[in-house]
Amino acid sequence: MSGLSVYGLQGRVAVVTGAARGIGATISRHLAALGATVVLADRNATVEETARELGSPASALVFDVTDSKAVDAAAKQVLDKHGRVDILVANAGIAYEKSAVDHTDEDWRRVMAVNLDGVFYTARAFAPAMIAKKTGAMVLISSIAGVKAVRPELHVGYDVAKAGVAHMARILAIEWAPFGIRVNAVGPGYVDTELLAEVGRTQPEVMKIWIEDMPIGRLLRQEEIAGTVGFLVSDAATGVNGHLLMTDGGYSVS
Ligand SMILES: NC(=O)c1ccc[n+]([C@@H]2O[C@H](COP(=O)([O-])OP(=O)(O)OC[C@H]3O[C@@H](n4cnc5c(N)ncnc54)[C@H](O)[C@@H]3O)[C@@H](O)[C@H]2O)c1
Repeated sequence: MSGLSVYGLQGRVAVVTGAARGIGATISRHLAALGATVVLADRNATVEETARELGSPASALVFDVTDSKAVDAAAKQVLDKHGRVDILVANAGIAYEKSAVDHTDEDWRRVMAVNLDGVFYTARAFAPAMIAKKTGAMVLISSIAGVKAVRPELHVGYDVAKAGVAHMARILAIEWAPFGIRVNAVGPGYVDTELLAEVGRTQPEVMKIWIEDMPIGRLLRQEEIAGTVGFLVSDAATGVNGHLLMTDGGYSVS
């Protein structure tokens, strides 16, 4: 394959978690545009509407990534229906703001459960189908918060979980390389999502700091994160494995 065709995903089955809205929905749209049959997964049933908007052959699955039995059952459902899984994007995550001393045990467990355990459960559940076919590509969504102390917001649990996600990609990449599976992580900077737009409306001083810290002088567009993911899961990136690809406009190196 050469030229543009290395970026195409025709004939591949892709699962994207946290796909009901935001970055996950945009990644799903992008993978579908590249030709993949996308299964949009989310704990929120609105994911069914997001999948309908993409049209056939996209479909939806409702499950919570913190429930490992539900994740295993979802993997079986995808395999029963499609007979294969080629791409997994572990994107589901939660964000919050709290100082370290205010973290309750529950706050800590909750963010680890979704942002770290959930990513592992998902990768573990979908790997056997890829191992069986000796091919597959996974992308785990990390963050600038996993490589650098961001400001001014405080969320130590989120930051540690996102650092763990990047390291998980390295470890799984080495463990599964003999089976033809590539595992990479993507580290978005501040992305223009509904959540951040709300911060811009309610705390303009925070948004001002974020923009100041972004070398490109603006938030990332969701499509820019989707573009990185599309590249990493394509045949254009068959040599990229165990890598954390920052998509942050230069934030992490400034
Ligand atoms: N928005 C940013 O600026 C930014 C920056 C860096 C990293 N990220 C990461 O990108 C990912 C997507 O972020 P977003 O801004 O689109 O968030 P979002 O809140 O808009 O979307 C997250 C989606 O994940 C789903 N989800 C949450 N917990 C779940 C669970 N337990 N099981 C299944 N689904 C669950 C939600 O229902 C939602 O649809 C997250 O992992 C986030 O940490 C975002």
